Amino acid sequence: MRLSVIGCGYLGAVHAASMASLGHEVVGVDVDERKVEALSKGEAPFFEPGLQELLTESIASGRLTFTTEMAAVRGSQVHFVGVGTPQQRDGDAADMTFVNAAVDALLPHVSPGDIVAGKSTVPVGTAAGLAERVAATGATLVWNPEFLREGWAVQDTIDPDRLVVGVPSTSAGVTVEGERAADILREVYHPSVAKGTPFIVTDYATAELVKVSANAFLATKISFINAMAEIAEVTGADVTTLADAIGHDARIGRRFLGAGIGFGGGCLPKDIRAFSARAEELGRGESVAFLREVDAINLRRRGRAVDLVVDALGGSVFKKNVTVLGAAFKPHSDDVRDSPALDVAVRLHGLGAWVTITDPEAIENARRLHPQLNFVDDRDEALRGADAVIVVTEWDEYRRELAPEHAGSLVTGKIIVDGRNCLDAAAWRAAGWQYFGMGRP
Ligand code: UDX
Repeated sequence: MRLSVIGCGYLGAVHAASMASLGHEVVGVDVDERKVEALSKGEAPFFEPGLQELLTESIASGRLTFTTEMAAVRGSQVHFVGVGTPQQRDGDAADMTFVNAAVDALLPHVSPGDIVAGKSTVPVGTAAGLAERVAATGATLVWNPEFLREGWAVQDTIDPDRLVVGVPSTSAGVTVEGERAADILREVYHPSVAKGTPFIVTDYATAELVKVSANAFLATKISFINAMAEIAEVTGADVTTLADAIGHDARIGRRFLGAGIGFGGGCLPKDIRAFSARAEELGRGESVAFLREVDAINLRRRGRAVDLVVDALGGSVFKKNVTVLGAAFKPHSDDVRDSPALDVAVRLHGLGAWVTITDPEAIENARRLHPQLNFVDDRDEALRGADAVIVVTEWDEYRRELAPEHAGSLVTGKIIVDGRNCLDAAAWRAAGWQYFGMGRP
């Protein structure tokens, strides 16, 4: 099939390359000339395992091109819209500027029978608001949310655990036009459909809500265990053992019960805020009032990690060498948007510590945001002379590959704060370190 993808950021670039790898002919369109130039040369504009290879392969095969010219979408049967919906500068709601601009630019080029498939995470009600304008061109609007995780984006796109498509429907159910649109999407995702991946066809509002409620649930799960960490801290309990124990209950499950400095990134924080804002607009703010608490718990944990460093250093970090291991919001990513790791580093710097920060992939992005911090590429170099060390992103380089004895030979003070509860506390203590976890004795 011929497909277009509008917006070649995180979502769009991965989607375009993944669709080309399925055999489709794909054109990616973005307003950013530099991004288009890089992508056209097969250069991934961010670190995402597997993306580079996919780009090189698909561009060489001639099935994948990138351009700034919207007219290039002509002839595509499906136009995916995957532009960003960041948090508004002066509020919690989603900033819809990019979605609106993309749709405005796209519609003059779509033909009757085409499908316009929204992928961006949007406030519920967005698709209903756009449907008429799309219908006026003879095309059909669907909403097809994306559930990809950074670090696994290629795999999640090519082989998702479910596909959700919101299509035109009435109180009587999906319309004929909606059925046709769903069939076209089935053809797009043919390998997943063939292997029996759940393919859920529903109305617009449900499809939009599936996305935000999934993220709200994940964020809640993380904040739940972080709330338990707070209780553990005043009772002497160990939150990691607690998580293991409750996680054995299949109804609860152990995943996303990792207590630590909490969630960040380009999705969860802004999505739960936008959801709260939208619910309030709908007069149902109280239904998701708990998400405000989820957000507050999450943000508190950064302060706790900082306090652990301060306390371990005798009440002040002023003019102390503190090494921060990690800057990305999670491992396998160079993304520092809303990164709790980077925030901890900035807070320690603000308290007068001499902060040295390292990360396997995110230094460049982190430096752009916080040039005041001292970035060091080499992990061991970063550890040299530290009065205290804090792990804030659980990269294998720190979690598995850093032996406490080796680290001990580099630092000045053997104090380690485990902001992700990812280290073997007993091993570090046995090597003479003072170990402090999050919600652990
Ligand atoms: C998330 C959703 O998982 C994905 O489905 C959606 O499409 C986009 O948002 P992503 O932002 O890539 O994906 O990251 P995710 O793996 O969900 O992690 C989010 C944050 O939660 C990270 O900062 C991570 O460190 C933190 N986290 C995760 C915890 O603090 N504890 C956990 O147990 C799991």
